[in-house]
Amino acid sequence: MDKAEGDRPSDRAVVVGVDGSDAGRRALRWAFEEARLRGLRLRAIGVVQLHLVALSVPGYPYADETYINDLVAATRDEVAKEVALVGADFPGVEAEVEAVLGTPAETLVEASEAAELLVVGSRGRGGFSGLLLGSVSQQVVSHAHVPVLVVRPHRHGKAASEG
Ligand SMILES: Nc1ncnc2c1ncn2[C@@H]1O[C@H](COP(=O)(O)OP(=O)(O)O)[C@@H](O)[C@H]1O
Ligand SMILES: [Mg+2]
Repeated sequence: MDKAEGDRPSDRAVVVGVDGSDAGRRALRWAFEEARLRGLRLRAIGVVQLHLVALSVPGYPYADETYINDLVAATRDEVAKEVALVGADFPGVEAEVEAVLGTPAETLVEASEAAELLVVGSRGRGGFSGLLLGSVSQQVVSHAHVPVLVVRPHRHGKAASEG
């Protein structure tokens, strides 16, 4: 193989976006399953998005560096908790947890560059109900560097096996 070190499929991860929603949790489970089947690492990313105004107005509480660092640390803890919970069913899969300050779609698209597969939920925490896809899922489907797996909710609350 003439591929460079670090560029072999086995070194690449399954990247998944975790946003604290049920959909994100279902995406995490799919990501673990895919990582297990493919023999890859899992990389779970939680993106902390602050309003641009908050970052640019001095003295505005959200612009405070300690506040932002605490928020990122708290997000990392939340993602770690979910990874530990779901990951308990996938003992053979190595999982990395990250929290990043940024724009969710942009951050996930960027992370997909070093990934084998990107997994997201069809919907997340926010947005308008009635939309088939949230804005993050729409954007990553359009712009990701690798195949994207969009995990849909159960239909009418039925279990997947019930169709
Ligand atoms: N801040 C975030 N950090 C990490 N992943 C995210 C974030 N926001 C959304 N995602 C991922 O994108 C999926 C779809 O969310 P999104 O498009 O934001 O829908 P909605 O508009 O319903 O919030 C989520 O299930 C999750 O996998
Ligand atoms: Mg959202």
